[in-house]
Amino acid sequence: MKKIVILTGAGMSAESGISTFRDSGGLWEQHRVEDVATIEGYIRNPKLVLDFYNQRRRQLLTVKPCRGHELVAELEKNFDVTVVTQNVDDLHERAGSTKVIHLHGELMKATSSNNPNDPRQIVTLDADHVDIHIGDKAADGSQLRPFIVWFGEAVPEIERAAEETSKADVFVVIGTSLNVYPAAGLIQFAPPEAPIYLIDPKDVPWNSVHRFRHIKKGATEGMEELITLLNP
Ligand code: OAD
Repeated sequence: MKKIVILTGAGMSAESGISTFRDSGGLWEQHRVEDVATIEGYIRNPKLVLDFYNQRRRQLLTVKPCRGHELVAELEKNFDVTVVTQNVDDLHERAGSTKVIHLHGELMKATSSNNPNDPRQIVTLDADHVDIHIGDKAADGSQLRPFIVWFGEAVPEIERAAEETSKADVFVVIGTSLNVYPAAGLIQFAPPEAPIYLIDPKDVPWNSVHRFRHIKKGATEGMEELITLLNP
């Protein structure tokens, strides 16, 4: 079976109704990154940060995977598929994808402020326990925090993602502006002979630099086109 690695970003979930970050009207126009998505911001004002992610989590419970997520999952019938996502939502899993690497953490999980990457500290939240409050404790006694990788923190999953990418027969990028490293750097790990498809309705400046085959469409229509290209 051919191996496909798919790197996804916020545009993948846009058709489910989740805002992207850098498009006009995106999340970073409404909130300052430094306040809500950095480790310094969390130390300065933990309540503001907990509330921001509580809101995101509540919204996630109201949305569903889009057809694009489903098509990504359906690729598993014919290919060995690994999804590497920058998204913190669980829409790939809910659509049925079985191998998903979350580079930037998971909204539906919480962890310790002292040891965020210690697997023994990570707990799953659900509809009955959506919010994290000041005073909620992790197993090690420290303040419970979202299991999110903030700017200024290590990205432990990048190594596994790079290893998978280096074995890809086909590499696909869907709905990311490729502004954030190390995620954007994964492309460099794709073997030179592997075609790289990019699904994004906008022009991406990297087009000229990389050997992208640009499918200039949204996630769902773009996935439909990709499937015809992969199975002529
Ligand atoms: P961005 O908001 O930077 O980029 C979203 C991309 O999706 C853009 O290139 C859009 O053109 C594209 N897009 C919009 N609608 C689409 C659709 N319907 N189908 C396909 N593509 C569409 O989001 P990311 O690149 O994911 O990290 O941002 C990367 C990281 O920056 C995030 O994980 C987050 C953020 O700060 C952290 O918070 C740590």
